[in-house]
Amino acid sequence: MVLAVSLDGRLAPPEGGAAQLGGAGDRRALEEALAWADGCLIGAETLRLHGSTCLIRQADLLERRRREGRPPQPWALVVSRTGRLDPQLPFFQQPVRRGLVAPAGVSSSPPAGFDRLWALPMDGSPSEPRPAVGRAVETSQDQRLLSGWPALLIELAADGLERLLLLGGARLAASLLALDLVDGLQLTLVPRLLGGAHSWLPLAPLPAAAHWQLKESRPLGDGELLLHYRRLKPNQRS
Ligand SMILES: NC(=O)c1ccc[n+]([C@@H]2O[C@H](COP(=O)([O-])OP(=O)(O)OC[C@H]3O[C@@H](n4cnc5c(N)ncnc54)[C@H](OP(=O)(O)O)[C@@H]3O)[C@@H](O)[C@H]2O)c1
Repeated sequence: MVLAVSLDGRLAPPEGGAAQLGGAGDRRALEEALAWADGCLIGAETLRLHGSTCLIRQADLLERRRREGRPPQPWALVVSRTGRLDPQLPFFQQPVRRGLVAPAGVSSSPPAGFDRLWALPMDGSPSEPRPAVGRAVETSQDQRLLSGWPALLIELAADGLERLLLLGGARLAASLLALDLVDGLQLTLVPRLLGGAHSWLPLAPLPAAAHWQLKESRPLGDGELLLHYRRLKPNQRS
């Protein structure tokens, strides 16, 4: 997972919207992470707000991928419960392969603008349109949705997408952290205090199991600090 966060742990200012927190050093770190990746997972709301996804632009990174025989850009995988995205978004004109990750039953073929559809398997009966009533119904839908992620990651790996970058936003990140499916955290600490409600990790219970080991820390310039943690598996803990 790669995020830029303020010193008080916010990933967007109090008013929300399309947040641009990091500077040039953070952009380089983000592009290096993109250059490593086969695919990027992006929450639908982040895409709706930003309109487009981050691309590798730096020549040395594009050249490195070319030498490795890899496509210039990783797949952009938009994660959505509904599949509802405005086809006018600039994203649909970007030079990138687009995948939609949505619950099984939302669509049987890739919607217009997408090259592929990956269905999130769900326990129990196929997905129905989400009823606009009580939280309990929504929560049980969410539980069934979350249960499909381990199988989806296996399917993505079988399709050649083994190195996945999780680009946020907070709700998608929280889903995958709650399932203990995130192997690494690369946070750029940005020297700002933002306040407000947009914590990078919404307050929800997390598995107590997750322990993290610092793999790298380096200043990125302009007061920014990169912190890269790797998740320790239970047998690696002292
Ligand atoms: N600072 C940074 O590095 C950074 C990075 C990324 C984003 N951001 C900021 O984060 C904010 C957006 O974050 P957010 O938390 O509001 O939204 P988000 O996580 O980007 O997107 C939420 C949407 O993703 C889909 N989704 C989330 N979890 C899912 C799951 N487990 N299964 C299926 N679909 C799932 C749903 O899409 P549907 O609505 O289609 O059902 C949900 O409404 C923006 O302000 C953005 O600028 C900051």
